[in-house]
Amino acid sequence: MTKSIERVRCDATPAWVELQDAYAEHGAFDLRQAFDADAERFASFSQEAPYVFADLSKNLIDEATQTLLLALAEQSGLAPHRDAMFAGEKINTTEQRAVMHWLLRHPPVAKKADLRDGMKGLSAELADVHSTLKAMLAYAEKMRADSKITDVVNIGIGGSDLGPQMAVLALDSFVTQDKRFHFISNVDGHELAALLPRLKPENTLFLIASKTFTTNETMMNARSAKSWFEANGGKDIARHFAALTTNVSAAKDFGIDTTFGFWDWVGGRYSLWSAIGLPLAIAIGADGFREFLAGAHAMDEHFRTAPLAENLPVRLGLIDVWYRNFHKFTSRSIAPYHSALRRLPAYLQQLEMESNGKQVDLAGRRLPYGTSPVLWGEPGTNGQHAYFQMLHQGTDVVPVEFIAVKKARHTLAGHQPALLSNVLAQAQALMVGKVDAGGHRNFPGNRPSTFLLLEELTPASFGALIALQEHRVFVSGALWCINSFDQWGVELGKVLAKDIEPRLASGDVKGLDGSTAGLLARLKH
Ligand code: F6P
Repeated sequence: MTKSIERVRCDATPAWVELQDAYAEHGAFDLRQAFDADAERFASFSQEAPYVFADLSKNLIDEATQTLLLALAEQSGLAPHRDAMFAGEKINTTEQRAVMHWLLRHPPVAKKADLRDGMKGLSAELADVHSTLKAMLAYAEKMRADSKITDVVNIGIGGSDLGPQMAVLALDSFVTQDKRFHFISNVDGHELAALLPRLKPENTLFLIASKTFTTNETMMNARSAKSWFEANGGKDIARHFAALTTNVSAAKDFGIDTTFGFWDWVGGRYSLWSAIGLPLAIAIGADGFREFLAGAHAMDEHFRTAPLAENLPVRLGLIDVWYRNFHKFTSRSIAPYHSALRRLPAYLQQLEMESNGKQVDLAGRRLPYGTSPVLWGEPGTNGQHAYFQMLHQGTDVVPVEFIAVKKARHTLAGHQPALLSNVLAQAQALMVGKVDAGGHRNFPGNRPSTFLLLEELTPASFGALIALQEHRVFVSGALWCINSFDQWGVELGKVLAKDIEPRLASGDVKGLDGSTAGLLARLKH
């Protein structure tokens, strides 16, 4: 039996019951009164972590709740479970796999004895990680220097798309100006068809990114790209196609010899740090990519070693549980106040919802409590002019996670103070509200938010921010006693799509429900 099976489900702990009582009394909790009553509230509810400062003080928690949440973490066995992940145990129990995306950012060691306790058995894996990283970064540098390659096209979906795409955008001020980066994910041919006419085979590098190398969308796009390449006079597949995958033999069967591998202990949505990060490595260079890994490693070490009460991923994950299971909030809005972070909400959506969107515990028992919230959002200030109305005056409370960056990388006068005053004002307005007798202009206030602050957006700080998010998802998943590292829920739709596709041509509706049959009849070609 693995350690993870021995975890204690959050609702079986004494702290859970105490939290229920605390919540019942907590109804009257008011952030404005909490600040009035405690001049130190900002200090006691803020947390420094590598590259990230977090202000948690505008959350609906007090010292007593926080103490109970920490007790909940202790009683649920969070720390041993975390340690099991960092020791390479097979905590992904439904697939019998270790969970070691963190190892991808671990620095190399000269000899096995230099490895910390708990990692001694992982020296071969770490050596593999570094030899693959070296090969991949050498290739990235070669491609960067290759002036004939002007366009890099990543073909992948889900974790093989969202991470690299988000990261290339996020770090745009570090990205080479010599190349254009494109991301093709959707099986909808409009995407690829719109791009291909803008490319020349001799100037294009296609990266086929798929952990499994079986994903339908990616395989279809890869086949279409290869056909286009050959039909348009493209000659050298080995030079113009590379595969990023754990399934190197399938990539070779597809006709791609240039491959960069990774391992089954890297989940798709945690794979940005592996060969799946190649587009980013080409974009920002080997040194930049190493800084990105180092920033994430610093956050790994913080998560692994900081006491739970001073551990930012732990504190965030506990607030997530408090909101989801006691306040019964069903969503979290992500508001990055940096336009380069515009794909971050989509990335975090997969990270949280594919990891923690589960309804059974490790033993397969149906859970009596809620798990993953819905994650959504847009960059500020855009969101303010769209859906913030609902955040301020709607009937549901949605905790907001603001992400701000102190230093800008542009020199346009006035913009950065305007941006930063907006993010401060929104967090302030949500909390303080405004009383107006008329009703329509009344802002209830007392709406919670978290404020994450980076000094500047660099490969290292960005790496730390993403690792922070991975670990906070781990924390809530650990307390909920679910497997955050499988995704069986995506399978059924894939199987049904296979059944439906031939029916679109034949019109056969036998065995289909009435709605699917009716729609199929309309869509039949
Ligand atoms: O269908 C879901 C999923 O398996 C994700 O977990 C994954 O990130 C994505 O598909 C792509 O998978 P692959 O990298 O194997 O093509």
